[in-house]
Amino acid sequence: MVQSVQVPAPAHAPDQARHPQWAFFEGKIVPIEGAKISIVTQVINYGLGAFGGLRGYWNDEKQQLYVFRVEKHFGRFLNSCKLFNTSIPYSIADLKRITIDLLRREGYREDAYIRPLLYNSTEDITPRLYDVTFDFACFTRALGNYIKLEVKACTSSWRRLDDNTIPSRGKITGGYVNSALARSEAYWNGYDESIVLNQDGHIAEGSAENLFVVRDGKLHTPTFADNILEGITRSTVIQLARAELGLEVVEREVDRSELYVAEEAFFCGTGAQVSAIVEVDNRKIGSGQTGPVTKSLQQAYFDVVRGKNTKYADWLTPVYD
Ligand SMILES: Cc1ncc(COP(=O)(O)O)c(C=O)c1O
Repeated sequence: MVQSVQVPAPAHAPDQARHPQWAFFEGKIVPIEGAKISIVTQVINYGLGAFGGLRGYWNDEKQQLYVFRVEKHFGRFLNSCKLFNTSIPYSIADLKRITIDLLRREGYREDAYIRPLLYNSTEDITPRLYDVTFDFACFTRALGNYIKLEVKACTSSWRRLDDNTIPSRGKITGGYVNSALARSEAYWNGYDESIVLNQDGHIAEGSAENLFVVRDGKLHTPTFADNILEGITRSTVIQLARAELGLEVVEREVDRSELYVAEEAFFCGTGAQVSAIVEVDNRKIGSGQTGPVTKSLQQAYFDVVRGKNTKYADWLTPVYD
């Protein structure tokens, strides 16, 4: 059981540009400079780790920071541990406590990001999952928009990892070489983001975002079997689209060329939030601007994450007393 420190919201905004001051490392919260690992570890050499990514949203009116869908994020994080056939000595409730303590210590009065990390800390040459130690660490940072809310994308020449190569349903550290290659290709070619196809040639997702297209007024999105990350924003969007906007949502294989004829398309993710894809491979999507469906979903999403739509209050964990 992790004990928490009770700290009220700070009266003054901390320095916006500063780096995080604290980390959870080797079982306790320590100054970030103390959270260091050796270059000999397997996580550094072989990418043998897994991570999570959560957001905290600042609500100025309520003077509160809300962490979005903590249980769901840590549930997926613990599933990543299972992929490595390991576990950590923390329950979802413990991980929630650690997150709140870290955020309180930093005293954010702005949007923040939380990065839990599982890592193989064994110092040995053979990359492996047996006879090794996995440790847990966590840090936070301030985070505004990860990508713009309106982006130009290209289809990547890189293919998405296959489940039988590195499982896509976990946020496996080494697997993010694939994301870095795709994202950098887009950047170097003058686009904001890449759309990555799977080995079958169907759309998988963006470098760090799930993807939806709007066709005939319905939302269509690739399935888990298309080697996508089991995105929590994706499931949030599906729920909001059905419940709040009365839209039909279809999970199915989506072809690349469907993007070219779609009415609208958008990325979604903890970092990306809901970001309209207004151009792909030099073709305008729809009007070439954020379309009405994407706009409504953006609005619905931001209302929920900032605690303005109280119907979904149980998705939010308040940080301050
Ligand atoms: C590869 C990949 N796909 C999709 C997502 C979106 O997932 P989520 O909505 O759970 O953040 C992410 C974000 O972390 C990601 O890294």
